[in-house]
Amino acid sequence: RYRVVHGGWEHVLRVQLAGVRLGVEALDFGLSVLPGDRAEQRARLRETRDLFAFTEYDGVLADPGTYSSDTVRLLPPGVLPEELSMEGFITQIDPPAHGKLRKLVSSAFTRKVVADLEPRIAALTQELLDAARERGRLELVADLAHPLPVIVIAELLGVPVGDRELFKRWADALFERDAQLSVTDTGLERQALVESSTRAWREMAAYLGGHAAERRRRPRADLLTRLVEAEVDGERLPDVQVVNFAMVLLLAGHITTTMLLGNTVLCLDALPGQQERARADRATVPAVIEESLRLLTPFAAVARSTTRESELGGVTIPADSYVMVWLAAANRDPRAFPGPETFDPGRDPNPHLAFGRGIHFCLGAPLARLEERVAPGILLDRINPIRTDPEDPVLFIPTPTMTGVRRLPLTWPPPPPA
Ligand code: HEM
Repeated sequence: RYRVVHGGWEHVLRVQLAGVRLGVEALDFGLSVLPGDRAEQRARLRETRDLFAFTEYDGVLADPGTYSSDTVRLLPPGVLPEELSMEGFITQIDPPAHGKLRKLVSSAFTRKVVADLEPRIAALTQELLDAARERGRLELVADLAHPLPVIVIAELLGVPVGDRELFKRWADALFERDAQLSVTDTGLERQALVESSTRAWREMAAYLGGHAAERRRRPRADLLTRLVEAEVDGERLPDVQVVNFAMVLLLAGHITTTMLLGNTVLCLDALPGQQERARADRATVPAVIEESLRLLTPFAAVARSTTRESELGGVTIPADSYVMVWLAAANRDPRAFPGPETFDPGRDPNPHLAFGRGIHFCLGAPLARLEERVAPGILLDRINPIRTDPEDPVLFIPTPTMTGVRRLPLTWPPPPPA
């Protein structure tokens, strides 16, 4: 029932199969948590839902009319609680509503807003490294790659940085569900997972809703205030849309950036001569980051749903199918990237798809690129050489749609002799 369309390269197929397995599990999961005895509905869904995985990305991402971003509509009824609205959840919205929302939020989240953050990002990186130095150990993810983007996005939005453990708990409940799904097999465990992610969603919506309402009463100099005040054609965003967009920022704004920082440092350690070259010529750091994005694509796949029957790669896809576009696989397409398995920061241009393509192109790409330029630059200054700890293993996030380290212990080199 599950068909895979692929470019014929072995590694691509491997990535895709892992992803298809995940998609199938997600679908089965959706089916398994349908309330009550809905055997007939379950059987019908199993017969009708196909999952397609594509690396033939162009046709999909350039045609939002056929390949809609609204994938939630394919979930069986009852999986998402009714009171959870997807309004304003920008990654799930199609044109024309998408264009209007994007214009509105872009007017609050401008390049200038991002560029002004550079000194703060540098100061935070130094502070976080100082704290790790005092503790005498540096686990890159817990000590820098996770807290840095969370603090930056929290300060930008204007929510208390002290609540960042809450953001982490919510993000883990919502994102890592995928990972846990592959190791749970009883209906009860699955039900518990749905309940914890729904709870996280509700808590997060209530938390951000409280802050947005407060900004309407008492505006401040922060992004939440700019979002509640932003106008396009004389219209403002309704509260639910402000809250859901802030939720996207809080989640998308840190998980991927955490993965990218970990991946980049891993590349600097693992590839001979790489960090020496970057240290000698800092102007090469952005190219290292772009190549890390290509080879270790943090968001490995994006999902779409077909609004009508279509054809791709000679395969007919019925309406209401779930389509996964493997950015990670497209980023290793030998037609676009000669020697795709080689880490080569000298690629120019490097037209990778790690930030997506088309109308949903990552809105946070300038912020991610800024954080990634500043933090590794400071790491290169302060830690020479950057080395993973041979006594303490590196751990990866165990889900095929995410490429990133979960734990990256580094050694502090001894101080130079006085
Ligand atoms: C969209 C990747 C960092 C906010 C996307 C998409 C990708 C992506 C692939 C497209 C999704 C799709 O087409 O369905 C990444 C990566 C990042 C990163 C790899 C870091 C390395 C950020 C940051 C923010 C952010 C720091 C915000 C602070 C967004 C938003 C969208 C988006 C709001 C939705 C845009 C739309 O639907 O119009 N991101 N992202 N991202 N990203 Fe990022």
